[in-house]
Amino acid sequence: MNAPAASAVSPAQAPGVTVQAAGIVAALPRSEKIRLVSGADFWNTEAAEAHGLSAFMLTDGPHGLRKQNGTGDHAGLHDSVPATCFPTASALGSTWDVPLLEEVGAALGRESRYEEVGVLLGPGLNIKRHPAGGRNFEYLSEDPLLSGRMAAALVRGIQSEGVGACLKHYAANNQESDRMRVDTIVDERTLREIYLTGFEIAVRESQPWTVMCAYNLINGEHAGESRMLLTDVLRDEWGFDGLVMTDWIATHDRAAGIHAGLDLEMPSSSGAWDARIEAALESGELAEADLDVACGRVITLALKVAAERASRLPADPVTMHDDHHALARRVAAAATTLLTNDGTLPLAPRGRIALVGAFAETPRHQGGGSSLVNSTRMDTALATMRARLGGAGEVVYAPGYDAATGDATDAQIAHALAAADGADVVVLMVGLPTSFESEGYDRSHLDLPASHERLIQALTARHDRVVVTLSHGAPVHMPWADAPQAIVTGHLGGQAAGSAIVDVLFGDAEPGGRLAESYPVHVREIPSDHHFANAPTQVQYREGLYVGYRFHDTFGVPARFPFGHGLSYTSFEIGEPKVTGRGTSRTVTVPVTNTGDRAGSTVVQVYVHDRESTLHRPAQELKGFVKVHLEPGATGDAVVRLDERSFAVYDAASAAWKAEAGEYELRIGLSSTRIVATKSLRLTSDDVIAPAPATASAIATDKEFAAMLGRLVPEPRPLFPFHYDSTIDDLKTTWLGRRFAGALSGIMAKAMPTDADMPDEVRATMTSFLVNMPLRALAMMSEGRLSFASLDRLIRVLNATALSSRRASRR
Ligand code: BGC
Repeated sequence: MNAPAASAVSPAQAPGVTVQAAGIVAALPRSEKIRLVSGADFWNTEAAEAHGLSAFMLTDGPHGLRKQNGTGDHAGLHDSVPATCFPTASALGSTWDVPLLEEVGAALGRESRYEEVGVLLGPGLNIKRHPAGGRNFEYLSEDPLLSGRMAAALVRGIQSEGVGACLKHYAANNQESDRMRVDTIVDERTLREIYLTGFEIAVRESQPWTVMCAYNLINGEHAGESRMLLTDVLRDEWGFDGLVMTDWIATHDRAAGIHAGLDLEMPSSSGAWDARIEAALESGELAEADLDVACGRVITLALKVAAERASRLPADPVTMHDDHHALARRVAAAATTLLTNDGTLPLAPRGRIALVGAFAETPRHQGGGSSLVNSTRMDTALATMRARLGGAGEVVYAPGYDAATGDATDAQIAHALAAADGADVVVLMVGLPTSFESEGYDRSHLDLPASHERLIQALTARHDRVVVTLSHGAPVHMPWADAPQAIVTGHLGGQAAGSAIVDVLFGDAEPGGRLAESYPVHVREIPSDHHFANAPTQVQYREGLYVGYRFHDTFGVPARFPFGHGLSYTSFEIGEPKVTGRGTSRTVTVPVTNTGDRAGSTVVQVYVHDRESTLHRPAQELKGFVKVHLEPGATGDAVVRLDERSFAVYDAASAAWKAEAGEYELRIGLSSTRIVATKSLRLTSDDVIAPAPATASAIATDKEFAAMLGRLVPEPRPLFPFHYDSTIDDLKTTWLGRRFAGALSGIMAKAMPTDADMPDEVRATMTSFLVNMPLRALAMMSEGRLSFASLDRLIRVLNATALSSRRASRR
């Protein structure tokens, strides 16, 4: 706790607390207020019947509803009700289609409403700092503007159905390694310009009902205890008037969280924190008014959920699931991105097609962890292709590899080659097996399974018409990219991934996607790779602003496929752009003509380049975009509006956004490297920015990083002595700790289903959850069996015995 109680405001004046809720709070005894600011169980809030307050459910997740009726977990372990599995966020971001994402949001909201869920825990919009981030499939983009706009569209859609959305994970939560307690070291300007801007846009454009704080620390402070993030920035600066909840089991100091602006703890910690909150109130460390505000926000949300529910009729599940499946198929096609094509695509729906790859039968369609959806149905490419060809052609299928492991036998490869012989075209479906991508752990490399690469090599050597389709939640290395005649990625396309890819292959749907992240040639080239998931307890964002295309375009290191890239089956002509307006308030109007013979869409992207900045800036940054759908021969205008923030930088010295006077170039592009027109403009402005030295390369040296941070680069927190954030894995460094960790792991393993068929990724996620579990979680999850006082004693004993045995061994 670091702030005096005197800073508190009463609930009646606090943003996000209604008069009615403030009235209820005033009538509650302290113990009731403490009870209400923590969940009742894994997914539900507490009720207060005497005051007319019902409990409500909050549940995952970003691309489909994951409502568990039985045992609750956040690892994708136990069953959930059937729900439409939409494409994951990595695919949704690739649509660049705001109205379409509003439709998806509305469908998610409808299913949640039908299942009586009050708040859906999504969208996730953390920046893809590094392509190996384990949860990148759950996030929208490497760019904050695209992330923010797409997230806002989803939120508007969800909330249009009277269900709350939840922006997560706030903030700077960009890796899974050591995820419950890693400390993100990031400078203020980078935090603002890269990691907070998406949240800011989504808050301002969609007024989400809730925000979820991240597990990690930021510059030494737990995200859920940062008053700067949760109150000063989120509420006072951006105008957020909803509720902030913890991520599941993220609480580190509940009283400090309440003071910071963290309203609801989830899931229930069975009263584990109550005595600590009482003590903080008694000592004056926590003001009663802060507790009242948190409680007022929980009550406000409960009343809102109840009022929305009372005012709407339930949806019809049969038509709802049919309609949503059709929408999922349309969205998956709209996300599908054509990376290369020599004209082989679209395919003629006749002749003999060799379809190779087990993903044709067992689609790879979503990632592991808390977002895992129990799909209402599952389309396969194999069945869809056979039905599409009917009597006009033949599909010769060979699995080529094992869908779950990605391994292949020589016989499987030989069978695939035999299938290709005599085929008019080969469609090879490869990608990342499910176990490669999950919440809970990062990837250790970007390679496809060796067998998939072997198939690509063997088939492209054997046949001169090979189309490779990819299923994956994040970029992969593609040293083979020049070999096939076309490459198309469906990302992770959800339950209709199998049918949507066939729609695109035959041109029944266009490949509507454009990359929402850069695909590097090799991961070693990108600056964040030097400080990513490679040290316990800390990660240093030494690349600063140079994430994704901001790095590639500024430092002249071409990506294999750049941000914004995606080919079309038709062609577009971009006319002369017009820029109207004054000062920083400008409208860019770009005429676009579909010059081909098919309907299609393109995404007009507007990047801003500052020609004479005081501060070092990325060569260009996306400041607006619009997806234009056009019939053959038709012309339409892409209209993009710019405002002050389109030109501004965050001046850390004065803690303000500033747009300097000078010359700016507006670059109109179809990707970050395919700029088709430019326009210059001059701004006049009184804004003055304090100069700051640029780094010599994209990776700051110790000295440069210290200058960016404005202090010495902090040392990572040592693993010993143990404390609340120590993980069960850390304990293994001492003798007694090892014994204790062993006993704990045994107890936990017993609690895990013994199902031999448990999928690899679920087992891997669970294992990672267990080893990364902080000690404080033991008290929170013990259902009252282990108090924090006992945990304190336990930690003291573990530390004392380790110290004395260390001393003894030194003697
Ligand atoms: C995840 C959240 C999720 C929550 C509930 C956490 O582990 O980080 O994204 O909403 O569990 O399942």
